Amino acid sequence: MKHPSPQAPARAEHPRGPVALSHVSLLGIGSSVPERRLTNADLARLVDTSDEWIRTRTGIGERRILAEGQVTSDLGAEAARRALANSGIAPEAIDVVLVATATPDQPVPCTAAFVQEKIGARNAMGFDVDAGCTGFLYALQVGRALIASGAYGNALVIGADALSLLTDYQSRETCVLFGDAAGAVVLGRERGRARITDMQLGLDGRGAHLIQVVAGGTARPTSAETVAAREQYLRMNGREVFRFAVDKLAGLTRELCARNQLELDDIDLVIPHQANGRILDAAASALELPPERMFCNIEHYGNTSAATIPLALDEALRQGRIGAGQRLILAAFGAGLAWGGALLEFEAD
Ligand code: UT7
Repeated sequence: MKHPSPQAPARAEHPRGPVALSHVSLLGIGSSVPERRLTNADLARLVDTSDEWIRTRTGIGERRILAEGQVTSDLGAEAARRALANSGIAPEAIDVVLVATATPDQPVPCTAAFVQEKIGARNAMGFDVDAGCTGFLYALQVGRALIASGAYGNALVIGADALSLLTDYQSRETCVLFGDAAGAVVLGRERGRARITDMQLGLDGRGAHLIQVVAGGTARPTSAETVAAREQYLRMNGREVFRFAVDKLAGLTRELCARNQLELDDIDLVIPHQANGRILDAAASALELPPERMFCNIEHYGNTSAATIPLALDEALRQGRIGAGQRLILAAFGAGLAWGGALLEFEAD
């Protein structure tokens, strides 16, 4: 095991003492996707489907899939390096590493340990957060609260998932949907690009059966029988989740506006979890929001679970879709059933 060299940059000294939650800022962002592409034509060779069905029913054109030997923490570490470079903060100066994932490298230890080692964030504590597709927003709230408490000066919050590993490529209902990716943000208490002014999270375990991997836990340990029944793969009640998702996206957006005395017109862009293009269209129409204010990049990546929001946020920023002085809502939903929303206010230049 390597020990910190005496030449290692000194850890930044953060001001201590609590701050208001609404003062925690986004200091940098980055994302990473695997090189390997899985197209609709590739899937049509595996199951009874077509490019036309997948595009019209989901909006997905292709997904990125881990290469042989590549693991979730590789994607998370690369996204984290980019977010750190973007923030100008050295890895040694990071206090907390949080990895939102439902597809860890291994059951033990946490994927945060692998990411921490890969990026050299040797002064950080860290752990994983599992809230399915809402994981990134859950981890964002945890990071935000740790900083606001005064206990930590900054946090690296990563959403990294490789749902290709939980995907049954014999099931046309699910295999067309998922891809692999990671996105990361650096949070801190100093002035950054945007303040996270409000967040709202929820969980309703009555819907736990709607998206699940049945085997591999204490309820149903992996056995020859579970493997034969393909219970290591993700199963979903697509129609019920679809209905829930449209209601939640629209509801969360409305609630975040209402509790911050804002009108929908005050929101420049909504970045939703990318689960299905039709879900986004239906939510935009329920909100009477012009489609260009509902960000969608699902065509290129599919549903990348905890990674969709930071990946989409990174793209939206690089495309100049959101910037100084503007307001943004992030909104996610998924297994649990869990959901979450965040209001971001970009600093004026
Ligand atoms: O990240 C959060 C979790 N996930 C979601 O948010 C996903 C939410 N749900 C969905 O996106 C959609 O429900 C799906 C994309 C999963 C399915 O779309 P749908 O429009 O709800 O289709 P459906 O399940 O109602 O099925 C319609 C038909 C069925 O055939 P019959 O029974 O009408 O003959 C399916 O067997 O489409 C068939 N079908 C397919 N056909 C070709 C289902 N998957 C496919 C496929 N290719 N890949």
